Amino acid sequence: MIKYIKVNKKYQYVVILFAIFVLANSVQLFSSCNANGGTPAGSADSVTTAADSLVSIDTAKIPHGKYGDAVKYGRQLMLHTAYYIGPNGVNGHYTGNKMNCTNCHRDAGTRPYAFNLVRSFKDYPQYRAREGRILSLAERINNCVMRPNLGRPLPLDSREMVSIMAYLKFLSDSSHVDARTKGLKNMTVELPDVAASSDHGEKLYAQHCERCHAKNGEGKMAFDNVAYQYPPVWGLLAYRPGSSMHRVVKLAQWLKANMPYDKTTPGTTFLTDAEALDIAAYINDDKKHQRPAAKTTKEEDYPNHEEKAIDYDKGPFKDPFSEQQHKYGPYKPIIDYWEGKGITPVI
Ligand code: HEC
Ligand code: HEC
Repeated sequence: MIKYIKVNKKYQYVVILFAIFVLANSVQLFSSCNANGGTPAGSADSVTTAADSLVSIDTAKIPHGKYGDAVKYGRQLMLHTAYYIGPNGVNGHYTGNKMNCTNCHRDAGTRPYAFNLVRSFKDYPQYRAREGRILSLAERINNCVMRPNLGRPLPLDSREMVSIMAYLKFLSDSSHVDARTKGLKNMTVELPDVAASSDHGEKLYAQHCERCHAKNGEGKMAFDNVAYQYPPVWGLLAYRPGSSMHRVVKLAQWLKANMPYDKTTPGTTFLTDAEALDIAAYINDDKKHQRPAAKTTKEEDYPNHEEKAIDYDKGPFKDPFSEQQHKYGPYKPIIDYWEGKGITPVI
């Protein structure tokens, strides 16, 4: 009996040791999972980020087979939009300029703080104030084809639309996203008490942006003339009014984390908030430079006027502020006005 207990104790001891070993390993595994979002370190073509909870995607995990082929083509369409479906596209003529989706949704929609698309597949259908109705993901994709890309809509059953949707589904399925994940939304900018200054923005543009996007905002084509090396920021081949980029705060939020191209990395910034707002004011100043015509459809943007984003610049408004103030600020009085009515305004 005594002997039996002794053996058993020893046995228990081994079991406990084994349990501690397993536990320690799984804790290690778990934390390394968090550290890189489940992405094998150094894997090619993945977004490797310093902070532990930034979005990350491993394209090496795109499956084989027909679905995987669609995912891969969808990804190529985001990266090389003009080549496939641009004005001289090899697979169809849909977009009206030669900008690629990835010029704004950087790294094919996977880069943090750059209009990241990792969640989009889950987030649609969604009510959209700009259209005043519920949009499917395909309709939302076509908004970008028509507005910033100046194009005509992709047919819903086209290989192109289905492939972009498949790619966005893959992003959504394979990402490790939870409440702590950073970078799904753009960075926020502190809104100052004064209006954004297009004139000051003009000086900053010459200093920080002109060497790539050119003095007249037209950017620079790549040597093959298929797409841009540096995309245009205004002019008749840039995004049209009615694109979200044409809103000063929205653009400033993106600029803060993404430009100048060679001076920012995911999660780090170069411009101050005020500088980003002033440059956005200059880029979106239609009195200083041309843009394509605004209208793409007969639908009125923001048909419910009280739902307008605060930096959307076309009246009529359901508040007492001018088009000028909606466009350039100061924005705080507009926010206070709506909050006073118990409504959280869209920025
Ligand atoms: C000039 C910049 C620009 C280009 C080019 C562009 N987009 Fe967008 N896209 C935006 C902005 C800005 C938004 C709105 C983001 C927001 O409201 O925060 C957006 C939103 C989207 C959304 C909705 C995201 C969501 O989760 O709500 C999808 C999907 C999308 N774009 C796909 C595309 C595709 C596909 C292309 C290429 C055909 C493209 N975009 C080209 C700027 C651009
Ligand atoms: C070193 C070159 C370089 C500099 C400097 C630079 N950019 Fe860019 N910019 C790029 C490239 C390249 C892209 C496309 C990004 C991509 O495809 O990932 C881009 C994209 C953009 C876009 C979105 C696409 C479009 O054309 O609408 C805007 C807006 C923009 N830059 C504004 C600016 C502003 C403002 C500055 C100065 C603060 C600036 N850039 C400085 C290279 C540059």
